[in-house]
Amino acid sequence: MRIVLGSDHAGYPLKAAIIEHLEAKQIEVLDVGAKSADKAESYVNFGEKTAQVVARGEADFGIVICGTGIGISIAANKVKGIRCALCTNEFMSALSRKHNDANMLALGARVVAPHFAKAIVDAFLDARFEGERHAVRVGEICALED
Ligand code: RB5
Repeated sequence: MRIVLGSDHAGYPLKAAIIEHLEAKQIEVLDVGAKSADKAESYVNFGEKTAQVVARGEADFGIVICGTGIGISIAANKVKGIRCALCTNEFMSALSRKHNDANMLALGARVVAPHFAKAIVDAFLDARFEGERHAVRVGEICALED
């Protein structure tokens, strides 16, 4: 499995913690996010850049992180084919995969503590899309892009 991660400066520390967590699980990671927490950079650019990697099929899933997770998730969701779910707990992240077939997860570094964010990531990666009636809804979302 290959995961692409992106963050702005506010999300940088949590991104580093999530990368360490994923690499410890032998998951391949591609980091296209901010290189430090020191320089203020636009979450819009990083959200779009991360989403494009997923949309091109170069990663199985994407994880984007900014201060709240709000701005970077909005930006990621502007890219065709992206369903980016901003989640604050494990229930939401598991359901975003099971029901919404989310292909990206957004986290707020100023909202969730690192140990909790790791559990949210694990719940996201462990869950599988359930299809059936949910596939109809996801199809309706995809139709909005045309
Ligand atoms: C940066 O200060 C902050 O605005 C950004 O990380 C994010 O929270 C925006 O939604």
